[in-house]
Amino acid sequence: MSDYYVPGKERASKVRQLFQRIAGRYDLINDIQSLGLHRLWKRKLVHQASLHTSAETLRPPLALDLCCGTGDIALALARHGFQVHGVDFSEKMLEIARERTPSELVQRVRWSCQDVLALSEPNGTYDLITCAYGLRNIADIPAAVALIHRLLKPGGQLLILEFGKPENPILKTLFRLYLKMVVPLFGLIFCRDAGAYSYILDSLDHYPAQRGIDELLRHQGFIQTSWQNIIGGTMSLSTAFKKR
Ligand SMILES: C[S@@+](CC[C@H](N)C(=O)[O-])C[C@H]1O[C@@H](n2cnc3c(N)ncnc32)[C@H](O)[C@@H]1O
Repeated sequence: MSDYYVPGKERASKVRQLFQRIAGRYDLINDIQSLGLHRLWKRKLVHQASLHTSAETLRPPLALDLCCGTGDIALALARHGFQVHGVDFSEKMLEIARERTPSELVQRVRWSCQDVLALSEPNGTYDLITCAYGLRNIADIPAAVALIHRLLKPGGQLLILEFGKPENPILKTLFRLYLKMVVPLFGLIFCRDAGAYSYILDSLDHYPAQRGIDELLRHQGFIQTSWQNIIGGTMSLSTAFKKR
């Protein structure tokens, strides 16, 4: 098991250490390991967000991007007219997000360095909450889901993009082999740390994935929950709404 996957109290500090370590190579490895496809999947998420957020008021809709990392989703949402708050506990990932923020978007995005579980904003602050490749890393996933529900406005939307668990046994085997044998090599080559990328499979094994997350969301009181499988369920895009 990767040194970075530690259940219990130390989980968050190990995850933070991992992203501090790989921040400089994170975007490059994302492009390599997904053959650039993560860009399409993120675009799909932003498209889903725009579909559901109507301009009911004059002010721009408010979005919270959890585990924002180097800012792909937060910046894309800002480009689509959202006022965005990006939150991440890795200063180094946020440093890159800040550097990547074009001057015309500076007023549209606010970056905060903190653990998402410590967010203390008032109930019903956001029209939209997004989390791409973040939820799997959070030490207490049910607590994160409860927090998201609390922070959303009635009628607000949640979108989660994550690694998934394919049900086709052949695809499942191939996908696991890819994560076990190939992806850690990218960590080794680009960060001199195979464990930083073997972490993905370890964390996925402990993550409820698309089905389990959907159940958790319904249990929390979310409505209209659904998910789309991407590449046979190796990735998934889940969505849910808070009752009006
Ligand atoms: C795999 S990266 C995803 C980054 C970005 N959302 C993307 O899709 O490219 C996961 C990010 O979540 C952050 N993270 C993990 N757990 C967190 C927590 N509890 N609070 C804040 N950030 C967290 C990490 O620092 C890292 O930047």
